[in-house]
Amino acid sequence: MNSDAPIVDVENLSVQFGDFYAVRDVSFRVYSGQIFGFLGANGAGKTTTIRVLCGLINGTSGRVVIDGINFTSGRENEIKSRVGYMSQRFTLYNDLTVGENFDFAAALREIPQSVYIARRNDLLKFIGFDGKLDTVVKNLPDGTKQQVALCVSLLHDPKIIFLDEPTAGVAPIARKQFWEIIRNLSRGGKTVFVTTHYMDEAENCTRIALMRSGELIAVDSPRELKRKTFGDTLFNFTPRHAKSKLPPSSTMEMCEPYGRHFHIRFNDKISLIAVRRKYGADFEITSIAPSLEDVFIHLVEGAQK
Ligand SMILES: Nc1ncnc2c1ncn2[C@@H]1O[C@H](COP(=O)(O)OP(=O)(O)O)[C@@H](O)[C@H]1O
Ligand SMILES: [Mg+2]
Repeated sequence: MNSDAPIVDVENLSVQFGDFYAVRDVSFRVYSGQIFGFLGANGAGKTTTIRVLCGLINGTSGRVVIDGINFTSGRENEIKSRVGYMSQRFTLYNDLTVGENFDFAAALREIPQSVYIARRNDLLKFIGFDGKLDTVVKNLPDGTKQQVALCVSLLHDPKIIFLDEPTAGVAPIARKQFWEIIRNLSRGGKTVFVTTHYMDEAENCTRIALMRSGELIAVDSPRELKRKTFGDTLFNFTPRHAKSKLPPSSTMEMCEPYGRHFHIRFNDKISLIAVRRKYGADFEITSIAPSLEDVFIHLVEGAQK
């Protein structure tokens, strides 16, 4: 589908802190306009990878090319003009106003006043900001704060934007709004590289990379990840009564409790009809489309057992 060159090309990247590998031998590609989701538990190496891609730290080994420019080429500044970064924590200055935060970013990026004001106004319009420029940031609702932070990181009009857990701790409705903005950015041709802990959000990604303990364990579209991990053989078991006995564990490849239900996959390929014949007296059984949550549990947590 994407025959053109990747905008991010990472080959065998490792990042060591002393003897410890925060990132180990990671390779992946991101193409222009994609929403690339970077998933993994705390400590998996997501932020470290992003910091390398933004040129904030150097990898210990491996090759990183952003928009055709190699990091070791001495053209780091050209890379920095192409990437935007919204970090996990320090996004905006809380004690400054919205306008002052923009002023500050514009000065830092040396964006001329005439260009900058128009861009700021366009970006605020893009997110539907209905507040005032002289509002002190700490008085903004959390969701709005994150949206304004996003605008600030887009001020120099980067081709690719790295968002590190942009919706962590943000209320559900605001999270939805934020993702609507992400989708619009992608439709407008920007590449979005985003980390999240929320699996429902990850469904919005063009492709997903799953990290575990510094290693990349899967990269694919949400649909392919589900298909490759589960095929069409995932069942939902709902006990009919308190004494319902689960199938023998030796026959199951996976059995994850979800509230009072169980998501079950058998070792052998077995049809819904056959499963119902066997366990239908004790359980109400349906065939289910796996969620990314299922994939995540199976690949990330399952691999640690
Ligand atoms: N500067 C550092 N020095 C030593 N260890 C670090 C440093 N930065 C990150 N780490 C370690 O590297 C691992 C990956 O961290 P990080 O990339 O922040 O993970 P994530 O963003 O996926 O939660 C963690 O175990 C973390 O403690
Ligand atoms: Mg992190």
